[in-house]
Amino acid sequence: MWSFHKWFERHSLILLIGILVVVSIGGIVQIAPLFFIDSTIERVQGVRPYTPLELAGREIYIQEGCYVCHSQMIRPLRDEVERYGHYSLAAESMYDHPFQWGSKRTGPDLARVGGRYSDEWHRAHLMNPRSVVPESVMPPYAFLAQQDLDASHMDEHLRVNRMLHVPYTEDQVAHADADAAAQATPDSDAASDFSRRYPNAAVRDFDGDPSRVTKMDALIAYLQMLGTGVDFSTYHADAPENQR
Ligand code: HEC
Repeated sequence: MWSFHKWFERHSLILLIGILVVVSIGGIVQIAPLFFIDSTIERVQGVRPYTPLELAGREIYIQEGCYVCHSQMIRPLRDEVERYGHYSLAAESMYDHPFQWGSKRTGPDLARVGGRYSDEWHRAHLMNPRSVVPESVMPPYAFLAQQDLDASHMDEHLRVNRMLHVPYTEDQVAHADADAAAQATPDSDAASDFSRRYPNAAVRDFDGDPSRVTKMDALIAYLQMLGTGVDFSTYHADAPENQR
């Protein structure tokens, strides 16, 4: 046995071939089954694609580099679950391209920040974080409330997402630009059309300025829906009724 091993180790080409054989067995065992299952993600009820306004908000989140200080992934560790809520499920970021996981947390994890604060709180916080959290080191983003949201290409955003298997309908793509404004303009005819297309999305004036639709509207709409899809009071990982 040992002399055979010595022979193996002294012939580098044979050793190399041996290594390749062993590594490919390991690779096949891990990778091959993935080709025979429909999805590597367990789908759960409640997860829906972003609305055009939320998608625009997500774009601003990425442009402004919020991810440099904030992750969106609660790990299954006791301190994280106690602070932020149920650990993140893969399905919760299945429509995120690119996903916002990570472990760099100068600020808290935002995976479940939706609904935790009021819109007014978010607005005040983004205008000047120190007005609500005196010791905060987060920079202010007051300019977002001054800048109108350019929603003229949301249809293209939806189309690209659809290429990446986000199930937007033709109707949703065709009305994407109008829907972005409609979500932040309650009491309009467009808003009721919007609600028909996105039944589970909130419609309201997110930034407190009903006269126009700003980047602040989009960013707050996005923050307020983070982690709100799955109802964790009824969710149980093994229960088949939670899967669809
Ligand atoms: C330089 C790092 C930094 C950047 C960049 C940053 N933040 Fe923060 N953020 C923080 C810190 C630190 C806190 C905790 C103190 C506070 O609440 O202000 C925080 C808190 C928050 C909270 C409250 C979270 C909670 O659970 O209390 C939200 C929401 C938030 N940030 C959103 C954003 C958004 C949106 C952006 C991008 C527009 C952003 N942050 C950019 C550092 C940052």
